[in-house]
Amino acid sequence: MKQAGENSNSLKMVFRNRPENEKIVRTTAAVFASVLDPTLEEISDFKTAVSEAVTNAIIHAYPKTGGDIEAYFKREDKKITVLITDYGIGIKDVGKSMQPLYSTLHTQERSGMGFTFMEAFADEVKVKSVPGKGTIVKLIKIIGKGEECGENL
Ligand SMILES: Nc1ncnc2c1ncn2[C@@H]1O[C@H](COP(=O)(O)OP(=O)(O)OP(=O)(O)O)[C@@H](O)[C@H]1O
Ligand SMILES: [Mg+2]
Repeated sequence: MKQAGENSNSLKMVFRNRPENEKIVRTTAAVFASVLDPTLEEISDFKTAVSEAVTNAIIHAYPKTGGDIEAYFKREDKKITVLITDYGIGIKDVGKSMQPLYSTLHTQERSGMGFTFMEAFADEVKVKSVPGKGTIVKLIKIIGKGEECGENL
């Protein structure tokens, strides 16, 4: 069997939809990316995007029951792919839910900006959701783009 090369790695976590798990996954995301020597801005952006996706799964996926959420991290060279998967209620209209300020939870804490932040802070965001079955949010972050463009000179 082909072994994973030095320039790749992967990690999978399964966790309960408890608020305290957001910090654990966010911190893990930072450690996972740290091998690429990211700038403070890159690491902060990456953590924010992961945090929004994880928070959504914790808060929205299982409104009546508890449930498990999966976080999968994969690195290939400078590209990090993150999949946040839940098996909860799903999203009826993904396009609408990704619009700025759209939220189905009208509490003071929610501003409907989670997907907007993910799109601003990750290089790619894709959402696949089936009502009644669950949601997968895929985030891609490239670390070290600035160096390639000579921005850090
Ligand atoms: N994993 C999920 N399962 C079910 N519904 C979701 C999920 N993620 C997002 N949603 C739906 O998409 C809407 C928009 O999400 P978004 O993160 O943009 O805003 P929010 O979570 O409501 O508020 P904020 O992120 O600003 O606190 C949510 O209000 C919710 O209805
Ligand atoms: Mg949100």
